[in-house]
Amino acid sequence: MTRSQMMFVLGFLGWVSVIVVDVSARMTPSDSPALPTVEPTFYSNVTIGPTIKVNYTVEISTSGPAVLDSVIVFTARIFIEPNHTLPEGKFNFLWISSTNDSNEHTSGRHTSTLHKAFHHAEAIDYLMTVVVSSVDRPAEILTFSSTVFKLTENLNGNLRVYQDLEYQRSNTSFAIDQPIHFHVNITDHFSKSDTPQYTYFWYNGSDLIRVTDSPHLERNFSEPSILHLQAVASAQFWNVPGDAASPSSRAKPNPDLYLESSIPDKCGSFTEKLHFKESLSNCGINRVDSSTEDQSVKLGDTLVLNITCSGSSPSAVCWNVTTHNSTLNETCRPGGQFTNSTEHRVAVTMGSTGWNTLQIAVYNDISFQVMSQNYYVYDADSVNIPALVLPIVFIVLGGCLLAAGVTYIVRLRRKLHVEVADFDFDPTISVRSTSSWSNFVPAVKHFIQRVRHRAMSTSYEPYSINRPRNLYETL
Ligand SMILES: *[C@@H]1O[C@H](CO)[C@@H](O)[C@H](O)[C@H]1NC(C)=O
Ligand SMILES: *[C@@H]1O[C@H](CO)[C@@H](O)[C@H](O)[C@H]1NC(C)=O
Ligand SMILES: *[C@@H]1O[C@H](CO)[C@@H](O)[C@H](O)[C@H]1NC(C)=O
Ligand SMILES: *[C@@H]1O[C@H](CO)[C@@H](O)[C@H](O)[C@H]1NC(C)=O
Ligand SMILES: *[C@@H]1O[C@H](CO)[C@@H](O)[C@H](O)[C@H]1NC(C)=O
Ligand SMILES: *[C@@H]1O[C@H](CO)[C@@H](O)[C@H](O)[C@H]1NC(C)=O
Ligand SMILES: *[C@@H]1O[C@H](CO)[C@@H](O)[C@H](O)[C@H]1NC(C)=O
Ligand SMILES: *[C@@H]1O[C@H](CO)[C@@H](O)[C@H](O)[C@H]1NC(C)=O
Ligand SMILES: *[C@@H]1O[C@H](CO)[C@@H](O)[C@H](O)[C@H]1NC(C)=O
Ligand SMILES: *[C@@H]1O[C@H](CO)[C@@H](O)[C@H](O)[C@H]1NC(C)=O
Repeated sequence: MTRSQMMFVLGFLGWVSVIVVDVSARMTPSDSPALPTVEPTFYSNVTIGPTIKVNYTVEISTSGPAVLDSVIVFTARIFIEPNHTLPEGKFNFLWISSTNDSNEHTSGRHTSTLHKAFHHAEAIDYLMTVVVSSVDRPAEILTFSSTVFKLTENLNGNLRVYQDLEYQRSNTSFAIDQPIHFHVNITDHFSKSDTPQYTYFWYNGSDLIRVTDSPHLERNFSEPSILHLQAVASAQFWNVPGDAASPSSRAKPNPDLYLESSIPDKCGSFTEKLHFKESLSNCGINRVDSSTEDQSVKLGDTLVLNITCSGSSPSAVCWNVTTHNSTLNETCRPGGQFTNSTEHRVAVTMGSTGWNTLQIAVYNDISFQVMSQNYYVYDADSVNIPALVLPIVFIVLGGCLLAAGVTYIVRLRRKLHVEVADFDFDPTISVRSTSSWSNFVPAVKHFIQRVRHRAMSTSYEPYSINRPRNLYETL
């Protein structure tokens, strides 16, 4: 037996023994309980209604996490199962917290709230238990429940960053040369007698940008860069005399009127890493498989375009082809193919003959540009005239037209002579004078029509189609 085979067998045996141990663990008899039972302690003759009889349930919610000394709002709501029916009558709510604070009593209908500030507590998680009984029979507990709430050392809240952008690939990318707003939203609330005075410090990494009294800062960056935004909110507490309490006042309190509070100063820090990018602009399209001015594409051939823009990378491109000359309302959205440049080469195959509109959208992290190009797709198989025939036809046609034009002018001049000579408006003259045209003109028109028809089904650009039409109309 080789060494590796032995290792395999040993590994297999180990695996089997693990399974055996696992199975035997599961087969321990259920009459030996895994958890020790807690002996309930009864203080008095309080009874708990069996849930099967009363079916009351209480739900507790909190406004936490909250900073120490701030006011937390607890809400208890009771209902009856099944169907979450709201009970009639009044109820007593007993609030017991694990902070070693005194218990609180409230009463109300199916919902009751408690506003409570925890002073001299530690910044950890606590338990709040609500015991519900009927007002009529206070000793009979209908239901009870608990919830965890968190007290923190630092202020709680969030930092919001917003900018008016048409498109944003990720919520940390923003555009330069456009106002950007930062807003710190402190979610802790304090009682009226503990009105805090906030000061906000705004940093890029360790560089202080500005100090404000308002939680809002507006900036405008001009260079693509990374901003390690840190907003520090600092709260100072003052003991406000009852009647002068106005938490909205921004002015620093007068130290003569306000006493330093017993609540220590608090602060909270919020950080975001933001990327500032340059919007896409000056996008250009160059055709690679032919000249950029060439609007014709053979059916089945691939149209290759180079698209370049200025602005910040990464960027991506996507496109839509429509058969009508329509402007797309909903432009395409790129997939995951963002590249580290703002240059793209796209290969498009258009499936239907005739005029097609190609809508191209280039995206970067914070902007997009939409361009459209019209292309005429022709089916090479249905064109049977050799490439040289058409120019020759036009040269011949030009010659014919020249000859016809000269003849016409000569005729016209002769006719004018006749009319000047004698003011005779005999219709036969004009009929006669045009009679020699009556055969030639339809023939030319017919010929041009045929040529036009062919030209339409070939690659000719609009102006080359228009040229014969214009001549035709002047005839
Ligand atoms: C408990 O109930 C019994 C009888 O129902 C009564 O004698 C006793 O005083 C009650 N104890 C208290 C603490 O209410
Ligand atoms: C409590 O619920 C159970 C089943 O959910 C139901 O059988 C019982 O009648 C309910 N009791 C009351 C008082 O509604
Ligand atoms: C609970 O709702 C269902 C339908 O939503 C109803 O059929 C049933 O009677 C309701 N039960 C009670 C006890 O209200
Ligand atoms: C972006 O979204 C994430 C998750 O939703 C959030 O944590 C973060 O604060 C947001 N950043 C900004 C700048 O809005
Ligand atoms: C502040 O934050 C809270 C909780 O996230 C949110 O409900 C509230 O809308 C925010 N207020 C502002 C002005 O952003
Ligand atoms: C922020 O600081 C970093 C260096 O820590 C610097 O590279 C960047 O340009 C700064 N951003 C702004 C917007 O000033
Ligand atoms: C497409 O529409 C534009 C303006 O709506 C017009 O200038 C152009 O001539 C049209 N092109 C074609 C091929 O119809
Ligand atoms: C684009 O579509 C939206 C709704 O999808 C509509 O409100 C808007 O007016 C449309 N714009 C144009 C130019 O058709
Ligand atoms: C554009 O193309 C995308 C896929 O590339 C498609 O999901 C979208 O519906 C198209 N939009 C229109 C208006 O044709
Ligand atoms: C794009 O550039 C970034 C930083 O310049 C680099 O970390 C990343 O690897 C590049 N990605 C590709 C696909 O080149």
